[in-house]
Amino acid sequence: SETQRRLLLERIRDVPDHPKPGVVFKDITPLLADPAALAVVTDILAALCRRHGATKVAGLEARGFILAAPAAVRAGIGFIPVRKAGKLPGATLAQSYELEYGTAEIELHAEDLGPSDRVLVIDDVLATGGTAEASLRLIRRTGADVAGLAVLMELAFLAGRRRLDPALEAAPLEVLLSI
Ligand code: PRP
Ligand code: MG
Repeated sequence: SETQRRLLLERIRDVPDHPKPGVVFKDITPLLADPAALAVVTDILAALCRRHGATKVAGLEARGFILAAPAAVRAGIGFIPVRKAGKLPGATLAQSYELEYGTAEIELHAEDLGPSDRVLVIDDVLATGGTAEASLRLIRRTGADVAGLAVLMELAFLAGRRRLDPALEAAPLEVLLSI
């Protein structure tokens, strides 16, 4: 609802020139600290799990973890961490992607997903779309289907949606707040 949207927006703090000059950082810690706002986000994400028939929730390290794990609990399904390279101890699948300068890599434990799974991917921010795009490709490589991608915020001026679109393969993109 509009009231919920306003509550969430009020709890996201703009931090100018972080982490570098010219960037306005979207700080979600006030939202996380407010039990009403945290419950709203959790309920919306859990409802999206049900609507899209998800059997698992994947959270993208690090801020995606915070939103995805409680949503998984509320929806009664399991949680899959998609981690930055080098953190997971078991056999991993890895996917690298282009950043503004250089490349990044994410990984998951492939044994935790399979062809019977439908995964809702959750992150806090869709910016250039690189992280989300790589996560969708990575998840499909396990044989699982992508039930959708849900983000708390889309920074629309960065046009991440355009970069992401081919990797969505018609899976739904759910944006709680377009900024
Ligand atoms: C941030 C944000 C998203 C990603 C979006 O994560 O949390 O995951 O960038 O950017 P993109 O759309 O351009 O890929 P970051 O890796 O900076 O830090 P985090 O570990 O705090 O989540
Ligand atoms: Mg992140």
